[in-house]
Amino acid sequence: MDPQELLSKTVGQYTGHVNPGLARLMSFAGFGVEVKGEGCYLWDQDGRRYLDCLGGYGVFSLGHRHSKVVEAVKKQLDAMPLSGKTFFCSAQGELAERLARVAPGGLEYTFFSNSGAEACEAALKFARMATGRVKIVSTEGSYHGKTMGGLSATGREKYRKPFEPLVPGVVFVPFGDSEAASHAIDKETACVIVEVIQGEGGVRVPPVGYMRALREACDRSGALLIVDEVQTGLGRTGAMFACEHEAVRPDIMPLAKALGGGVVPIGATMGTKDVWDKVFGVNPLIHTSTFGGNSLACAAGLAALDVIQEEGLIERAKKMGGLMMTALKEMACKHDLVAEVRGRGLLIGVEFAIDEVGELVIAQLVKRGMIAAYTLNNPRVIRIEPPLVISEKQAEWACQTFEEAVAETEELVATLA
Ligand SMILES: Cc1ncc(COP(=O)(O)O)c(C=O)c1O
Repeated sequence: MDPQELLSKTVGQYTGHVNPGLARLMSFAGFGVEVKGEGCYLWDQDGRRYLDCLGGYGVFSLGHRHSKVVEAVKKQLDAMPLSGKTFFCSAQGELAERLARVAPGGLEYTFFSNSGAEACEAALKFARMATGRVKIVSTEGSYHGKTMGGLSATGREKYRKPFEPLVPGVVFVPFGDSEAASHAIDKETACVIVEVIQGEGGVRVPPVGYMRALREACDRSGALLIVDEVQTGLGRTGAMFACEHEAVRPDIMPLAKALGGGVVPIGATMGTKDVWDKVFGVNPLIHTSTFGGNSLACAAGLAALDVIQEEGLIERAKKMGGLMMTALKEMACKHDLVAEVRGRGLLIGVEFAIDEVGELVIAQLVKRGMIAAYTLNNPRVIRIEPPLVISEKQAEWACQTFEEAVAETEELVATLA
């Protein structure tokens, strides 16, 4: 099909049958139709190549179509793609064991699902059942998915309000304020749910010692600590799991995104033996998922863990993250439009000094062949989350291109003022 025909047909279909507002938003940003992905790049209908510095919000840590993951998935496809659910699934057992080996100590068990929201949903249910308590302490600006449970614990009114009444018993405290959290945690509290770095909240990094303080507050009151590593997990911040930066052991840890190796969707909720005994001890079918733990997803997960270790992607995230952070901070000093650059490893946020600038910068980036996006709960912040396999040359190009996009947006804003 002619490229322009493909684009207008797809935009028309989105407008008529998917989501008209989203179609407008994506068209404004200049996004086309994706037709191919390879490594750190994807291509649109015109054959234009883009450096993917969003990486599917953290999904493409291994890049697009990593050969080892594709090969493992193809092999599984030819044998048995989905689990029949009555027999044991060896890939599921294997992945659960491998995850237990790399996760922080004590997280020995895994429940598999298909997305980050499902992984958080299970985490909240497990915490309530394991403690027999109802109250959930979450943080302002947090993001834990858009299912009823995940949304109830998500710290942004805009997304919660239209669906109220939500799950009761959730209280929100400011992110990064361990004293406020300690005051909120009491003998009724089932769990605290928290991201180590708030991704959708605008790549917000809490003060050093925050996670440890939360761990101690939970221990004092018998509440469970859920560390949501859906976005930060599997090497993204320069550690296998971001909670390792403070040597904190969660009781429950939701994962998703990068675990599928950028090839098959998967969600996972890890937990301690104690939690598992209390949740599944009486009824092993108390929480289930038809597609969760399917053989294809688990084969992808196993290959993804291999690649992360074999290619030293944790070290790479640290090195490339440092390089990009330095370059972007230098850029920030030269441009008033940029208020702050922050993050850890290859989870980087650039905050602008005024609202609505993010969209303009993104359009400028797309024009130059680079993809990034703003964070869902904080549109002032553009997130840079490239594959961990990004090369030094690609990282330098990305920073330079970002500066050009900021400079042109600055000129545009000046003419409009
Ligand atoms: C920390 C965190 N938790 C949960 C989710 C929800 O994941 P999903 O979109 O796969 O449902 C996200 C998604 O961005 C996330 O960043």
